[in-house]
Amino acid sequence: MKMLIKGGERLEGCVSVLGAKNAIAPLIAAMLLVKGRMCFENVPRLTDLEHLLDILRGMGASVEWVGEHTLSVETNHVDPMGLDSKQMKRMRFSILLLGPMLARFQRIQVPEPGGCTIGNRPIDTHLEGLGALGASIERDDKGTMFMEADRLKGASVLATFSVTATENIVMAAVMAEGSTMIRLAAAEPHVQDLCHFLVACGAKIKGIGTHDLVIVGVQRLEAPKKPWHVVSDMLEVGTFAVAAALTKSELTINGVVPEHLYATCDALKRAGVRYELGPTSLTIQRHARYEAFKLQTMIYPGFPTDLQALFGLLATQAHGTSCIHDPLFEARMGYVSELVKMGANAVVADPHRVFITGPTSLRGTEIRSLDLRAGATMVLAGLIAEGETVIHDAEMVYRGYERLDARLVALGASITCLHE
Ligand code: EPU
Repeated sequence: MKMLIKGGERLEGCVSVLGAKNAIAPLIAAMLLVKGRMCFENVPRLTDLEHLLDILRGMGASVEWVGEHTLSVETNHVDPMGLDSKQMKRMRFSILLLGPMLARFQRIQVPEPGGCTIGNRPIDTHLEGLGALGASIERDDKGTMFMEADRLKGASVLATFSVTATENIVMAAVMAEGSTMIRLAAAEPHVQDLCHFLVACGAKIKGIGTHDLVIVGVQRLEAPKKPWHVVSDMLEVGTFAVAAALTKSELTINGVVPEHLYATCDALKRAGVRYELGPTSLTIQRHARYEAFKLQTMIYPGFPTDLQALFGLLATQAHGTSCIHDPLFEARMGYVSELVKMGANAVVADPHRVFITGPTSLRGTEIRSLDLRAGATMVLAGLIAEGETVIHDAEMVYRGYERLDARLVALGASITCLHE
């Protein structure tokens, strides 16, 4: 699919953020451990999520949309033999099935989840964590993993701040025998949301929101009666905030959780973006001048790697030379070459660092959406470019943003989608 964007339009009004992509995926995976039917609210409609739901349906789970953003899930009768290896190989989300499937079925045969374009994404922390809990893991030469554990047993585990490894180990540990200590646990809001959900189902987890989690295994997890409201997406908030700043617009973003935005708001402030943070909203105020900034991505509560490219775009509009350092992934600078095609003045120093000098006017041209966050960056670049920007592979943004184009159009942007 391609998107045609006519640059130069101001945005105006209010936008509401939806639940986080990276929160709903582990919640769905965790349902493999939970008895009963569960309703999740504030669920974004995303292509990646639909693929994960298809994998569950393939195993016999009952998964239904019962409202625009409400999903009902029940996994009482699932058969791991129904696992679609091809689908699993294709998407990164499927890594989240390892922990809960092992805990529930004791013996599983799964392909190694596919990589993606943001760099090398090892799974050693996942495997070491599950191994420490007692799983034996073997791989054949085709990459199929055979995992086995008659009964997972609590242990002391290092999660090295990996988001999905922490989630996998939590899901494997909640019904393991005895207690598990996870050190260097990731503490992102989506990791917290998973832990709070499991606690609501009967799990015993202490230290939620910190880097040390203590889990005492329980016999049974049961779906709570009340629907679960998926935590709102701090990455959507950052994306709309940058959209407003770039287009020099006043925009109110509703449904935000202020304590999740500490690093993002700090980065906005250092760039000279003016804003007001309320109890559930963030308003970006109209302003004309931004300043160069230094930014390093970190684990939460530091600045999120997933907003790095968007702030790189903001740097093209700031006075002076900004330095952006992303130590987490080595292929997240791909967006820079696309921005350079549009007229940005940027030098990639190495796979983790870029220097961007601004302000520069961007020109509409043909560019590509390289990954989800780079894709969103290209859409916002199109909003401020002179003339028309054509974004190829634009469907990439639907992996993580529900109808990003339509929501921007509702705020005043000019975007048309064409199927290639
Ligand atoms: N790492 C290892 N070994 C492992 C796992 C990770 O060395 O076994 C390293 C990675 O190479 C990377 C760092 O640890 O340098 C962090 O990776 P992490 O494991 O935290 O990433 P992830 O769990 O695979 C999640 C999000 C990503 C997001 C990262 C970082 C989900 C489903 N995905 O990935 O989201 O970039 O955390 O916050 O939660 C996105 O939303 O665009 C996206 C890619």
